[in-house]
Amino acid sequence: MSDNVDVKQDDCLNVLLIGSGGREHALALKLSQSRKLKKLFVIPGNPGIGEIAECFSVDIMGNKEIVDFAKQHSIDLVVVGPEDPLANGIADALQENNIKVFGPNKLAAQFEASKVFARDFMKKHDLPSVKFESFTEFHDAKKYIESKGAPIVVKVEGLAAGKGVCVAQTKDQALEFAEDCLIRGRFGGSGSKVIVEECLFGEEASYLTFVDGKDFVPMVYSQDHKHACEGDTGPNTGGMGCYSPAPILESFEGELEEKIMKPFLQGIKEEGIEYKGVLYVGLMKTKEGLKILEFNVRFGDPETQVILPRMKSDLIEVMLAVADGTLSRKRIEWSGEHAMCVVLASKGYPGSYEKGKVITGLDDVNGVQVIHAGTKEDSGSILTNGGRVLNVVALAESLPEAASKAYDEIRKINWNGVWYRKDIGFKELERLKRKCL
Ligand code: AMP
Ligand code: GLY
Repeated sequence: MSDNVDVKQDDCLNVLLIGSGGREHALALKLSQSRKLKKLFVIPGNPGIGEIAECFSVDIMGNKEIVDFAKQHSIDLVVVGPEDPLANGIADALQENNIKVFGPNKLAAQFEASKVFARDFMKKHDLPSVKFESFTEFHDAKKYIESKGAPIVVKVEGLAAGKGVCVAQTKDQALEFAEDCLIRGRFGGSGSKVIVEECLFGEEASYLTFVDGKDFVPMVYSQDHKHACEGDTGPNTGGMGCYSPAPILESFEGELEEKIMKPFLQGIKEEGIEYKGVLYVGLMKTKEGLKILEFNVRFGDPETQVILPRMKSDLIEVMLAVADGTLSRKRIEWSGEHAMCVVLASKGYPGSYEKGKVITGLDDVNGVQVIHAGTKEDSGSILTNGGRVLNVVALAESLPEAASKAYDEIRKINWNGVWYRKDIGFKELERLKRKCL
């Protein structure tokens, strides 16, 4: 709630946040610090979010239910966290009812919901992309994979919570994954089409920007760690940890604007796509320069957990500027601090895992943010309720300090089966060490 006398109560907003993960807990924390906030409502939320906002059980895929809820509670702005409700047209449904929304409409959400839509757009508007083909028939995919050889990347066309990608080191791995999708139906409708693309090599980074349809304002750079195991090995996950700033992108500021954002904005104008919200560009720094791995149409998870604590500007004011198309008049201020987020996960994740383990030590943690991602409350205890369960976020004057602060506190948290990567930020930490030698 605001304690700033400059903002009249009449100018304050009832905000509804949709989602229940670590990203949404980080968003809820930032929104609750806004001088423009009257009251924060969240559907469905989680126990961590429940400490700072009122949570309600409403189906996040039920557009009508959400519109009804927003009307009932005089909601002034809806902030959509995950991609599924956006791809399901929640922004369109809210706009049709004159309710302001932060997040792109159904057509614009195709940038994430359809890999073919995204790659076709990149090709047409000359954004830095890769060679690709798409297939609905296994025998066609097989012919293509056999002609190209490995390494090669096979992806499901639709949404798959970060798990629908196979970076195949051999032809057999690629064929097995394509067969899983196209013949065995492993990803259901999302995998009834696959995209087969050139395999890129290099370091990844996340570039998130606010977009109001005509203009963009970048957020601070961050780097996620998508692999499950130390040294960026093992299966792909939704993200095991993150840090910001990510100096790897710093020398590319001009290129990001000229080669990605300007053609993106020109492209959506030509295609008549209205894009308002966050554009998340997943990048790889290759020998040939920056290449786009993917677009996401929402904040990253766990990128948000390291970006928002560094944001000094008022998040609601920025989101209103996005919704109103007045972003060009906005300057966003960031702190120079370093943020690190380490994801604590359930044994078995990103494969199958058990839920309902009692988490201990949460009250012993000091000086860091403990973000809830997959938790639930039962008779006063906090239990695990997902693959990615908690995030520990530390802020400090340097990356090494942020890392030691985060890992010192993580040791106090426990449950049967807890695990986390011990090397978040390792590439940048190694570069810093080499600089000191
Ligand atoms: P996506 O969901 O498309 O971002 O893919 C998830 C992860 O798969 C990325 O973060 C990369 O680690 C990897 N990946 C995706 N596309 C490629 C590619 N063309 N070459 C190499 N790795 C890729
Ligand atoms: N951290 C990866 C994602 O949000 O998609």
